[in-house]
Amino acid sequence: MAHLNSLAQPSAAALLAWYDRHRRDLPWREHSGACADPYRIWLSEIMLQQTTVAAAKPYFRAFTQRWPTVADLAAAPLDDILAAWAGLGYYARARNLHACARTVAADHGGRFPDTEEDLRALPGIGPYTAAAIAAIAFGRPAAAVDGNVERVIARLFAIDDPLPKAKAAIRDATAAMVPSERPGDFAQAMMDLGATICTPKRPACTLCPWLGSCQGEAAGVAERLPVKPAKAERPVRRAIAFWAQHEDGRILLARRPEHGLLGGMAALWATPLTADTAPNVALDFAPIEAEWRRLPGEIEHVFTHFRLRLFVFATRGTTAAAPLGSRWATEQELEKAGLPTVMRKAVAHVRERQEGRPVRRRRRIRNG
Ligand code: ADE
Repeated sequence: MAHLNSLAQPSAAALLAWYDRHRRDLPWREHSGACADPYRIWLSEIMLQQTTVAAAKPYFRAFTQRWPTVADLAAAPLDDILAAWAGLGYYARARNLHACARTVAADHGGRFPDTEEDLRALPGIGPYTAAAIAAIAFGRPAAAVDGNVERVIARLFAIDDPLPKAKAAIRDATAAMVPSERPGDFAQAMMDLGATICTPKRPACTLCPWLGSCQGEAAGVAERLPVKPAKAERPVRRAIAFWAQHEDGRILLARRPEHGLLGGMAALWATPLTADTAPNVALDFAPIEAEWRRLPGEIEHVFTHFRLRLFVFATRGTTAAAPLGSRWATEQELEKAGLPTVMRKAVAHVRERQEGRPVRRRRRIRNG
């Protein structure tokens, strides 16, 4: 294919020149020339592991305002961090965040180590995150390869082996391109290119700084790369959440077991989420003896490995004691507990369906 042979070599310089004009302004990014704070880079990378930039931004701002340094985060109770993480998902990240901050504070004098190898030894830091921090915060020529970068490189070199087989070739090709000058900007430029130009669908190839170098584009196959294995259907699991309201209005609030799905998070009492529990046996799992009624409808929530159908049973007016692992919480405490998204959906489900729920009305005081 003559046209492929005539392509220019893709250069880091072309990408960096593009980045200087088009870089996204993100809260964890320093302005050109300023030194990146490893704590902020680490925090942003952990948040961005399974979360979009748009969703991560407000959490990043809230965390850095509340805990401006890694020492502050290390000193915070885990429950506060889990509650502040509520809604971001993948809660193991929050537990590892705390463990990592504590390790940095206790074993590294409050300073992040500055090599990929030492970073990888910390809780929650895998090869991608270690490389991203080493490059962005410490200027090391490390190849940070996430899903976006895999897509860019698979297209640039028309690597058409399916994933995950293609990973080694993609990694090597990326490593060969990382410049010794500005490796952190190179890593971030790759991320921006993948997010804004070399998108999964309908890539904007005409705007790409590597247009004249891209083998995938030249061969007309860019959009089809990388080749992904067919996704297995997620199995469906059923579970039941219990909404118990005390005579005094408080609600039964539980804490998830330390390990496993939503580990350590505040939650409504529920059957094990990963077991498939039919609603007709719900009462075997109820937290207290009471008259339970099943609320109409159900909640759908998608976890990484399964799709959950959550049924809600409710009871009101009880005076029972809260069983071990739970407590009676006021509406305000429930609001502040930091429920994960699936449990927020369950609470909203109850609110929509509970007839006769006392609604506190406030009289509007009008000016003038
Ligand atoms: N995705 C992962 N890390 C990122 C970063 N530092 N900037 C933008 N997008 C990213």
